[in-house]
Amino acid sequence: MKELSCKVKHNAKIANGIYAMTVTLPEEVHTACGQFLNISTGNPAHLLKRPFGIMRSSGTNVTFCYQLKGEGTRLLSQAKPGDGLHVTLPLGNGFQIPESAKKIAVIGGGVGVFPLLSVVEGVKGREYYTYLGFRSAEYSCLVGEFAAASKRLSVVTDDGSLGKKSNAVSAFIEEYASVLPDLIVSCGPPVMLRALKERLKERGITTPCLVSLEERMGCGIGACLVCVCKKSDGSNARVCKDGPVFDINEVEL
Ligand SMILES: Cc1cc2nc3c(=O)[nH]c(=O)nc-3n(C[C@H](O)[C@H](O)[C@H](O)COP(=O)(O)OP(=O)(O)OC[C@H]3O[C@@H](n4cnc5c(N)ncnc54)[C@H](O)[C@@H]3O)c2cc1C
Ligand code: FES
Repeated sequence: MKELSCKVKHNAKIANGIYAMTVTLPEEVHTACGQFLNISTGNPAHLLKRPFGIMRSSGTNVTFCYQLKGEGTRLLSQAKPGDGLHVTLPLGNGFQIPESAKKIAVIGGGVGVFPLLSVVEGVKGREYYTYLGFRSAEYSCLVGEFAAASKRLSVVTDDGSLGKKSNAVSAFIEEYASVLPDLIVSCGPPVMLRALKERLKERGITTPCLVSLEERMGCGIGACLVCVCKKSDGSNARVCKDGPVFDINEVEL
């Protein structure tokens, strides 16, 4: 993990309220798929860094996408190429994709799709069956990128304005029998991950399933315990340090 000053290379809107930013680091930092970074503009109103999934990493360039939420993301959206930012990376455990997983189902909802791109583009030699769910067409993004890296891609929206009117979990469950994946990886809002856990249990599907959780964070490095989540055995885990990726049966959703 490194704390570095970086420079904005590119920062542009890619969908309604959603931006993609590439920053250039002063040195190359190795990152694994599903890890995240913590970043701030250094503005006094934004001293605490904000966590975002690392989407791509190439040489000294690192790309992430962010949805406008509050003050921190508003300030990030105003950053121009050449501006200096403060970043800590890589953070978290990331997705550990076993060599034996050849067919992988990828289920993403909303901003949860961003870190999943690091899996489909980064872990080569696998077949990806990807299910993406967005609120509506205007919030959809990265569809071309996922299509290029997936054997099959299904995009659905809550209102049917792009693809079928459905959600990513239902789209996956409908195709499960024809895909029979070796592994499921997922990231999305808590309600989506809860639905995924319930539907897998209901159908008796025991395929290993890794989920990336989102919790409010403070330090991002395991010290403040703001991000604690409950594990199924009653113990606690820090999402920033022990996660953000967990086996779906390991955590309470
Ligand atoms: C591991 C991880 C990966 C994430 N990856 C992405 C991503 O790739 N793209 C994306 O758009 N969003 C992602 N998020 C959510 C993102 O961190 C929040 O939307 C962002 O911090 C909001 O900051 P803000 O200042 O604009 O909002 P405010 O609501 O003003 O934030 C106030 C405080 O709450 C914290 N906070 C608010 N919402 C969240 C949240 N959902 N998760 C964690 N902290 C939060 C902020 O860090 C800040 O300290 C991720 C969160 C986590 C934990
Ligand atoms: S955010 Fe501080 S321990 Fe996780």
